Amino acid sequence: MDYLPLFVELKNRPVLLVGGGDIAARKASLLLRAGAELTVVSPTLCSELQQCYSQQKLIWVAKEYYPQLLDNVFLVIAATNSDKLNERIFQDANQRQKLVNVVDDQPRCSFIFPSIIDRSPVVVAISSAGKAPVLVRLLREKLEALLPSSLGKMATIAGRWRNKVKHNLHTMTERRRFWEKSFNGRFASLVANGKIIEAESQLELQLKQQDSAGELTLVGAGPGDPGLLTLKGLQVLQNADVVLYDYLVSDEILDLVRRDADKICVGKRAGLHSVSQEQTNLLIVQLAQQGKKVVRLKGGDPFIFGRGGEELQVAAEANIPFQVVPGITAAIGATAYAGIPLTHREYSQSVTFITGHCRENGADLDWPALAKGHQTLAIYMGTVKSAFISQQLIKYGRDAQTPVAVIGCGTRHNQQVITGTLGELESLAQQAPTPALLVIGEVTALHHQIGWFGQSATAETLRSAVLELA
Ligand SMILES: C[S@@+](CC[C@H](N)C(=O)[O-])C[C@H]1O[C@@H](n2cnc3c(N)ncnc32)[C@H](O)[C@@H]1O
Repeated sequence: MDYLPLFVELKNRPVLLVGGGDIAARKASLLLRAGAELTVVSPTLCSELQQCYSQQKLIWVAKEYYPQLLDNVFLVIAATNSDKLNERIFQDANQRQKLVNVVDDQPRCSFIFPSIIDRSPVVVAISSAGKAPVLVRLLREKLEALLPSSLGKMATIAGRWRNKVKHNLHTMTERRRFWEKSFNGRFASLVANGKIIEAESQLELQLKQQDSAGELTLVGAGPGDPGLLTLKGLQVLQNADVVLYDYLVSDEILDLVRRDADKICVGKRAGLHSVSQEQTNLLIVQLAQQGKKVVRLKGGDPFIFGRGGEELQVAAEANIPFQVVPGITAAIGATAYAGIPLTHREYSQSVTFITGHCRENGADLDWPALAKGHQTLAIYMGTVKSAFISQQLIKYGRDAQTPVAVIGCGTRHNQQVITGTLGELESLAQQAPTPALLVIGEVTALHHQIGWFGQSATAETLRSAVLELA
């Protein structure tokens, strides 16, 4: 090991920082966060340090460095732009057995600053002993994404409860189990949702061993690109006992589920093995009642044509605690990747999300309102009824020449955007890969100018491709 990691208490300890520029300011801010009694030595100060000085957060020695300044300090940091001066500070500090760090100059450091993830009181420090700083940065980004921002709050509450738990649970094993269950379970979710009083009641219940409830989390997986899953969604997936997922959830997202979790497909698809909504509801209740953390993972957003509301109603009736992590719905994700802004100052002042699963006579949709111009229609599950949809809109006044786009497999590597007119909607929809979203309105023409992802086609190019094949 090149360096021994230590966490040093700096509160009210004298620390010397030599240098008054931006780099010194970055170190100053870190040292002040740790409560150091900071003295900055430099003839001038940058504006940030100036501000700290005027707020009396630090002592300023407005002179050149001299070695006696080291006499009473706990540690020293050199952040000047003079190599010679930095070397001198390093030598002086070593002579006096003081810990010294010359910024960005690892050979002249008897201690180094690790890269940190601060969820105080939990702090994660990473270092490569100065050998691979970019690798450390990448690792830090990954950990930042995995560690919920509520971690600090959770640790603070745990600190408050430590003695009480010790008093009630007499063996180390009992206490370990208690905390493992808390940090992985309902207590953690309640803290993350800002419900601190309920979180402490949960600890109380667990202490009395009266808690056996699992919980349900609805998670929106987004339209396909795993990069569109939210951070919170990822954290929940990494903590699940069992994940019930739909066909629409991409394999890349399923790969992000905790390795030991059970994954159960509860998809509904015409012609393929399907699980009915009632069976899914029953499964959710049964698994949660066994004390499991159940994640219901849905394509897009759980509340947009996803039956998420119904599943929560079932959970509420069975007294199962629940929470929702929203996702990027197909209409938002697929159009963004297709370069189709849903609203635009010139072309569209509103957008409506519609299901194409309307009744045969279409009586459940307000066609005259939907046929008005200057608006965008995003139609989910519209492929099968595309002929009927286009007839209705034209019948109630929308121009048959209105530009439309059908986005198949939006945000996925095989995304295809097929553009044409409202009159051609049926043939466009039939040629798009599924799942597909129908988008109607002038904004779809912008795809030709600002489309940036995947493949594009028009009714015409598709027609000539078919002719060529024939
Ligand atoms: C049952 S709905 C679920 C919608 C989902 N909850 C959401 O918020 O996106 C399924 C329909 O969403 C649309 N859809 C879902 N993912 C899509 C994608 N990647 N590209 C295009 N359309 C998609 C299709 O119209 C599909 O038939």
